[in-house]
Amino acid sequence: MFKFKVYNSIAEEGIKELLDNGFQKNDDEPNAILLRSHKLDCKDMDNNLKCIARAGTGTNNIPVEEATKKGIVIFNTPGANSNAVKELVLCGMLLASRGIIEGSLFTKSLASSSSTSINDMMEKQKKQYKGNELKGKTLGIIGLGSVGSLLAQAAEVLGMKIIGYDPYISVDGAWMLPKEVEKADDIKYLLQNSDYVSLHIPLNKDTKHFISKETLKFFKKGIKLINLSRGDIVNNLDVINALNNQILSKFITDFPTKELIERVSKKNDVILLPHLGASTKEAEINCAITAAQQTKNFLLNGVIVNSVNFPKIKLGRTTEFRLVIIHKDEPGVIGNIAQAIASENLNIKDMINKSRNEIAITLIDLEDNVSQYLMDKINNIENIINSRVC
Ligand code: 3PG
Repeated sequence: MFKFKVYNSIAEEGIKELLDNGFQKNDDEPNAILLRSHKLDCKDMDNNLKCIARAGTGTNNIPVEEATKKGIVIFNTPGANSNAVKELVLCGMLLASRGIIEGSLFTKSLASSSSTSINDMMEKQKKQYKGNELKGKTLGIIGLGSVGSLLAQAAEVLGMKIIGYDPYISVDGAWMLPKEVEKADDIKYLLQNSDYVSLHIPLNKDTKHFISKETLKFFKKGIKLINLSRGDIVNNLDVINALNNQILSKFITDFPTKELIERVSKKNDVILLPHLGASTKEAEINCAITAAQQTKNFLLNGVIVNSVNFPKIKLGRTTEFRLVIIHKDEPGVIGNIAQAIASENLNIKDMINKSRNEIAITLIDLEDNVSQYLMDKINNIENIINSRVC
C-alpha cells in the first residue's frame, strides 16, 4: 500500500481520489508528497519517496535538482489554476484604474454621518475617485503560457490591445492566443508601448529580477505593473524608485515585502495581496485532483505527465507485472537490464524508455513476477537509481 503525506491546504477532492484508490495518508516514510507553496527540505526526501506533486504551478519551493538525483519525480498541475490567476489580474487592472479601494474606504468612513448627508457627501466627493477604462488601452503580457494566453483572450473581449512577449512559447500556448495579439520580438518594444504590463513567467536563475532598473528604463511613463507570478521576478526597490519617478503609476503584487508594506502605509500607488492568485475553491479542487491523479498514475503504472524534471512516459498495460526503473541516461543501461531479465528466463512483453537531460525512465512489462534476487541484480547495475514492480 502506498503512503502519502500532505503539506498546505490541499482540497479534500484530491485526498479522496488517493484514499479511494487504496492509498494511505501517513506522514511516516511516505511514497508521495502533495503540497502547494510549502518549502520542502532535502531531508524530507528519503529513499521511500517516489514522487512529489505540486498542486499548482510554481516549483521553486522544491529542491528539484536534488530530487532528480534521487530519482524522485516532481509533478505540477499547469493550467489547473490559470483561470483563477487570470481573473485576479483582471481585478488588479480594475483596482489600479478606478478608485475602488479608496472610494470604498471613503464610503466606510461615512458610517457616523446622518442618512440625509450621506448622499450629498458621496456626490460631492466622488470626483476624487475617478478612474480610467481598460477599453482601448494596451496590455503587455510577458509569458504566454496557460495564464498569459487566457488573459490575452479575456483582455481582447474587454476591448484592449494586446502585445505578447514569450521567446519560449509552446505550440499549445500559441494555439490559445487570439489572432489580434501583437507579437513583440523584444521586451523593449512591449515595455515602450503598453499601458499595463502583467508578468507570467516562472522564477528561475534567468528570471530573478527580470524587472529591475535595467528593464524599468524602457517603460512608457505611467505604466501599471502587475506581478502575480513570483516575488523575486521583480526588484521591489527599483520598482519603488520607478514609482517615485512616475515611470510606474501603480504596482500590484501578490508578493508583499516589508518595503512594499511600508510604502502602502504612506502612498496608495501599491496594491498588495497575500499570494491569492490561485486561492479559489475551483482552482484548489482542480489542482488537488490533478496532482492526485498524477501521483496515482505514477505509483500504480509508472506513467508520467506534467513533470518538471522527468520525461513524459506512457505505456498501456500488457501484463500484471511492470518494472519501473529510474536510471541515468548512459549507454549500456538498457542492455544490462534486458540481460539481467533474460538471465532469469523472464519474457519481456513490452517496454518503453524515455530520457530528459541526464535522467531516464524505463517501463518493462514482464510475463511473470520478479524475484527479489532479480530486483537486487537490477538495482546493482551501474547507473540505476531505483526500481520497483507495480
Ligand atoms: C502557483 O504556483 O500555482 C500559484 O502561485 C499558487 O500557489 P499556492 O498553491 O501556494 O496558492
